[in-house]
Amino acid sequence: MLFPSRRRANIVDALSVPRALWLFLPAYVANMSPVFSARLVPGWRAPIDGGRVHRDGRRMLGDGKTWRGLAGGAVAGGVTAVAMALLSVALQPSWLDGWDFGYGGYAGGALGACAGCSSSDLWQIGLFGGLTGSLALAGDAVESYFKRRRGLERGAPWIPMDQLDFVVFGLIGMAAASPLLVDGWFRQALMGDWLVPATIVVGTIFLHLLVNRVGYWIGLKEVPW
Ligand code: CTP
Ligand code: MG
Repeated sequence: MLFPSRRRANIVDALSVPRALWLFLPAYVANMSPVFSARLVPGWRAPIDGGRVHRDGRRMLGDGKTWRGLAGGAVAGGVTAVAMALLSVALQPSWLDGWDFGYGGYAGGALGACAGCSSSDLWQIGLFGGLTGSLALAGDAVESYFKRRRGLERGAPWIPMDQLDFVVFGLIGMAAASPLLVDGWFRQALMGDWLVPATIVVGTIFLHLLVNRVGYWIGLKEVPW
């Protein structure tokens, strides 16, 4: 045979790009949620730093990092993950077969729904998404701490840290919360094809820049970054 199947298995799967964006969706939605929770609950604006000032004379985090944003991110991440699990099992698009956080059952090895195999419960998937969302926004607050130390005012851009903070913390959150899901699912989803983690890191930088510009154009954000 000219092309033995062993070689073909090494060919990168282009579908890994949309799958990676899908896998990271709870972190994306959580990261976008503060501008919405700010509109939903405008009265709850208690800052995470409690108004405290660092010895450099600047705010610890600033008024842009609120408990409301953090709580909203946890809810948004959890609801997103549950909706994704329900949608992928109900609609069963072939390119997302098994990309359901293990809700449809996981047999081990390559992803693919497996009725009758052990599976993740919906509440576990919700908790997984909630932890991912809160960790992603905790990372956003950590980044603000360093922005303030660099003398950058609230809302000032810091490329590429504005983009990378929630990639790093979103991945840490997902990895930390992954024992909630059926055994082995998350490791396979993230590391089964190197294009998945590569897309999450590189794609997120561009997606973040694009989404913030769109948010600015449609009047949701005050600055285009
Ligand atoms: N936001 C919030 N609570 C959070 C994160 C964000 O209320 N934990 C809201 C704030 O109204 C914030 C807006 O979402 O202004 C946009 O978030 P972000 O760009 O992360 O904050 P910045 O205002 O740019 O502040 P920083 O310079 O510290 O990043
Ligand atoms: Mg900002």
